[in-house]
Amino acid sequence: MAGIPGLLFLLFFLLCAVGQVSPYSAPWKPTWPAYRLPVVLPQSTLNLAKPDFGAEAKLEVSSSCGPQCHKGTPLPTYEEAKQYLSYETLYANGSRTETQVGIYILSSSGDGAQHRDSGSSGKSRRKRQIYGYDSRFSIFGKDFLLNYPFSTSVKLSTGCTGTLVAEKHVLTAAHCIHDGKTYVKGTQKLRVGFLKPKFKDGGRGANDSTSAMPEQMKFQWIRVKRTHVPKGWIKGNANDIGMDYDYALLELKKPHKRKFMKIGVSPPAKQLPGGRIHFSGYDNDRPGNLVYRFCDVKDETYDLLYQQCDAQPGASGSGVYVRMWKRQQQKWERKIIGIFSGHQWVDMNGSPQDFNVAVRITPLKYAQICYWIKGNYLDCREG
Ligand SMILES: *[C@@H]1O[C@H](CO)[C@@H](O)[C@H](O)[C@H]1NC(C)=O
Ligand SMILES: *[C@@H]1O[C@H](CO)[C@@H](O)[C@H](O)[C@H]1NC(C)=O
Repeated sequence: MAGIPGLLFLLFFLLCAVGQVSPYSAPWKPTWPAYRLPVVLPQSTLNLAKPDFGAEAKLEVSSSCGPQCHKGTPLPTYEEAKQYLSYETLYANGSRTETQVGIYILSSSGDGAQHRDSGSSGKSRRKRQIYGYDSRFSIFGKDFLLNYPFSTSVKLSTGCTGTLVAEKHVLTAAHCIHDGKTYVKGTQKLRVGFLKPKFKDGGRGANDSTSAMPEQMKFQWIRVKRTHVPKGWIKGNANDIGMDYDYALLELKKPHKRKFMKIGVSPPAKQLPGGRIHFSGYDNDRPGNLVYRFCDVKDETYDLLYQQCDAQPGASGSGVYVRMWKRQQQKWERKIIGIFSGHQWVDMNGSPQDFNVAVRITPLKYAQICYWIKGNYLDCREG
């Protein structure tokens, strides 16, 4: 039962979407909606004990709570959302803080609320992350690997993928660094790997463009200075609700000097061009390769996108992106609207189906992640 604050908050959730522009003006172009965004601001920060970094890195989370199960879960109340969006920060020296946040709405108008339908969850589960013919593309050649958008995909030293979202920031999945209870082994010395060309023979004077060897790539690593993980993940402990908060932001010790991809609020699936999403990651069944794929979104909840993109562990943490028309700038722009989390086996009306799940960037998550990047809310007013 939602109390009055709960209802108000539901209203607010819906309000966040009213600023959308109609995609039906001719000639039709899938256009980035303009969202009215909330403000998420730190209120207080306290020091926590050093973590033990004891968890084994799991490249993947699985959950049996499928779309119906998630749709049956009520949206968080205002107080719950404040808890979930509060966050832990881990510094390179091992110290750790917890920051409580406040959520503010700078303007508002009225609209109706709606209820969510309930359902049951699937029980058994099975590993199958390739759907029929494997439709992933390995990206070869430095002309592609070193250029946008593929160049925004980076590898975490704990095994996952991340995406460059600002000069010094990498977006990834929370489970790549924290298992819900504690930090994953290796997180204290977390590094982010950038693919660079590897010159055979040290490259000394050898301008051998007809070399028999295809160009080799290797990773160059940059240390991470601090990480942010939302409390929604830590509290949820990778359970049904936790999956909604499976994202983390890493700040590098120095700028990476590459082009990055901005984050954006995830529009409803039916507004995505072709109903499709794209992502590139370092799937662990193809070591050393960056693997690109795209696929249709099959279902969605407020916090998750369900799709059947072929993916293997290692692709976790990849930024899920789409390219749409940016009306203000009169240009096409790719933005990250979600983070690839992992695999789910779901009972769909009695017939087993499996999905890969991406965490959507909601208006609240956008406000929180943007604040982590910019350090102020004024630069975070546009999704
Ligand atoms: C660790 O680093 C943070 C941020 O630089 C700093 O605030 C904190 O005092 C440091 N803690 C220790 C124990 O050195
Ligand atoms: C190698 O090629 C580059 C341009 O392709 C040229 O600038 C450079 O001088 C060449 N180096 C040698 C040693 O031939």
